[in-house]
Amino acid sequence: MQTEQRDSFGSRFGVIAAAAGSAIGLGNIWRFPYVLGENGGGIFLLIYLILVAMVGIPVMLSEFTIGRSTQRNPYGAFRRLAPHRPWYLVGLMGIAAAFMILAFYAVVAGWTLEYLYQALLNGFRGKSSAEITTMFDTFRGGTFRPILWFLIFMFMTAWIVMSGIRKGIEKYTKILMPFLFILIIVLDIRAITLPGAAEGLKFLFRPDFSKITAETILEALGQGFFSLSIGMGTLITYGSYINKKEKLGNAALNVTLADTLIAVLAGIAIFPAVFAFGIEPGEGTGLVFKTLPLIFQEMPGGYIFSIIFFLLLAIAALTSTISVLEVIVAFFSEELNISRKAATLLASLAVGILGIFAAGSWGWFGGIHVMNQNFFGILDFTTANILLPVGGFFIVIFVGWFMGPGRVKAELSNDGSIRAAYLPVFMFLVRFVAPLAIALVFMNGLGLL
Ligand code: PFF
Repeated sequence: MQTEQRDSFGSRFGVIAAAAGSAIGLGNIWRFPYVLGENGGGIFLLIYLILVAMVGIPVMLSEFTIGRSTQRNPYGAFRRLAPHRPWYLVGLMGIAAAFMILAFYAVVAGWTLEYLYQALLNGFRGKSSAEITTMFDTFRGGTFRPILWFLIFMFMTAWIVMSGIRKGIEKYTKILMPFLFILIIVLDIRAITLPGAAEGLKFLFRPDFSKITAETILEALGQGFFSLSIGMGTLITYGSYINKKEKLGNAALNVTLADTLIAVLAGIAIFPAVFAFGIEPGEGTGLVFKTLPLIFQEMPGGYIFSIIFFLLLAIAALTSTISVLEVIVAFFSEELNISRKAATLLASLAVGILGIFAAGSWGWFGGIHVMNQNFFGILDFTTANILLPVGGFFIVIFVGWFMGPGRVKAELSNDGSIRAAYLPVFMFLVRFVAPLAIALVFMNGLGLL
């Protein structure tokens, strides 16, 4: 039964493409610009790139290694590799993170559906920057629409995970994502030729070292984890479906490069426009939604472009949400021994309830604030900046110190059939560099150091 499920998803078809589909999503196009805008611009980008190279790639490769060598969900993988030891708690923490991420991520995905709808109606046309801002705030502060779109998106995610048509979806994304890429480049060209765009490029690329704070560095780390889909076992789960002939090192490198490129290109589209239209870069979670419609307005064919863009963005979000739901479903179905269908229903129901609160964070549930954050903000901050880095810390420690060098080597060299010359570097990174970097950034960022 299990083998059948795994085969049907994985082997005949590029799991690597699916991993890229998981990584590339709203994290790159919505979250990266808004977090960068709040955290000093260029200096954030610089720290982000350093942390992705030093920490992101090692964690991703560690997840692939654990997943493919055990063929299990994150919890089951740790149980298998370290029986009777508490490592499985890392897997459980990842599953908790999956619930929380899905609950707010699918809310933002719902916003993209509203924007697709507005694009179709030509609803952005002729609106000033202030009107576009009001339009977004009014929509998001409403009671029903944000919840409705969230539920529609969750339903689509659940339906795909349950019915096993994801193979088809993933096949289309392989064709569609290059279009998203091209479209972002078109947006880049439009944005950087706007009058006043240079300020935006400066903001994005020129690091201002006086803006480094402990929190900036923690946010960069959290964003790296979030964007790469690492730290909670998503890529352990996907790794468990990767073909034994695939080169894991190449896979991790390529997924990371593609993901980082898309984020930077999204930044190049957003910030010149932010400055050209006089929007506040630290605007927060609404930044991209308040900026993009203005870029489309300034483009020939903007109507068509905006429709295609929001459609592709929704699909990019969908390939990410299915990967998050898959973590929970793989866990429920393998460990609780329930059917895939029941597992999907159970998980989606729980996420659905949590997400109604997240979607209402600016509306009916807007009064609730903890430390200046609404419910959505708490889920966003806690998962990206706490749960994922803590998970990633234990994942690299496990691979570096507990999995056994022989086993790691066998996995990365495909049982000796390829060379994996990078192995010593990788071991050094997972043993020392990555855990130390995570621990320092994390404790410093939370004021524990
Ligand atoms: N990496 C996804 C994005 O950037 O949109 C979001 C995500 C997917 C985070 C899967 C975590 C995860 F496990």
